[in-house]
Amino acid sequence: MKAAVIGATGYTGQVLLRLLENHPKIKTIIPVSSSKTGTPLSAADPAIGKALKKTADVDSKYVSVAQAVEMKPDVVFAALPHLKSAEVCAPFFDRAVVIDLSADFRIKDRAVFREAYGQEPPRPDLLDRAVFGLVEIYKKEIKKASLIANPGCYPTCTTLPLYPVLKKYKHTGAVVVNALSGISGAGKNLKENLMYCQRDESCGAYNPGKLHRHTQEIEQELNKARPGTDIFFTPHLVPLKRGMAVTSFVSFKKEITDEMIETALNRFYKNSPFVNIVGSGRIPETADVLGSNRCDIGWRIFGKQVIFMSVIDNLMKGASGQAVQNMNVRFGFKETSGLNVFGDL
Ligand SMILES: NC(=O)c1ccc[n+]([C@@H]2O[C@H](COP(=O)([O-])OP(=O)(O)OC[C@H]3O[C@@H](n4cnc5c(N)ncnc54)[C@H](OP(=O)(O)O)[C@@H]3O)[C@@H](O)[C@H]2O)c1
Repeated sequence: MKAAVIGATGYTGQVLLRLLENHPKIKTIIPVSSSKTGTPLSAADPAIGKALKKTADVDSKYVSVAQAVEMKPDVVFAALPHLKSAEVCAPFFDRAVVIDLSADFRIKDRAVFREAYGQEPPRPDLLDRAVFGLVEIYKKEIKKASLIANPGCYPTCTTLPLYPVLKKYKHTGAVVVNALSGISGAGKNLKENLMYCQRDESCGAYNPGKLHRHTQEIEQELNKARPGTDIFFTPHLVPLKRGMAVTSFVSFKKEITDEMIETALNRFYKNSPFVNIVGSGRIPETADVLGSNRCDIGWRIFGKQVIFMSVIDNLMKGASGQAVQNMNVRFGFKETSGLNVFGDL
């Protein structure tokens, strides 16, 4: 099978190249770059450079979108900025399965998209076609999808612990979510506030409460579990390269026990190889999942109040790993093909 990666020089694109090289079902990789077309991979990504054996192009050079169309990929991973991705992917929509890592197709309601991204969704005509790519919830739909909207990293790490429990038990008041993200979550582009001297030995919140655009995506998904769910979401950038930790506070209407949560999560995720329920005995940490496509979930109960703690690697389950998981499900491969359940030490 042939896979194209558009935006192959960015962080998620680079991780995709590595995952696809190790994927048993991928025979050819087409690395697409707008800024580095015609440049050898080794020049832009020296760590893989010549070691990548599956590239289709002579001399392993980045190709343009037009060249990639000619190469007829079966699957296209779009690792591009939001509000750009839908436009760049246009030639592939009826020719290949497109897995979009941007937010262009994630939010179904046009008004909600406008509120989050300040403009109309770029391809409203395709919103009905797009399936939200959270395999643990939408596996049936993903199996038939031609366009998969890979979820954001914060929405993935927040939705996985909460969805089954909110579905089962009524809560009261807003759900308060605090999240910590490594700097790679912001992409590879140069920004002053992402420079080493700004981020090292420093951390802080940004876009608190209702101001981060992932709030709408989280609300969209959790409202499917429990209509009316109101989210206050506050992300923080922390001096890690990769990794994400989310703490979510929920007040339930009745007393909750460990067994109630454990049963709700275990039942919902019984066929989900990448969800690891660590229970109330351990607080999960980002290092537990580094390099793996896993989400680890723990919790602590205080009567009716529960604090959920979840961790992912933002570049794996939060982005490229999840995209490969979507491909596996879509094409009928083993869900774990080419992905690590266990991370690095
Ligand atoms: N980083 C994460 O942890 C993470 C997690 C979840 C979702 N995402 C989403 O995944 C997408 C990619 O993220 P990333 O972190 O890989 O970003 P990134 O490191 O900034 O890379 C994005 C790549 O897109 C291409 N690009 C940039 N501007 C473009 C433009 N105007 N037109 C066409 N191509 C352009 C560039 O690649 P070329 O020059 O090679 O074309 C660039 O390297 C984003 O939508 C992001 O929100 C990222």
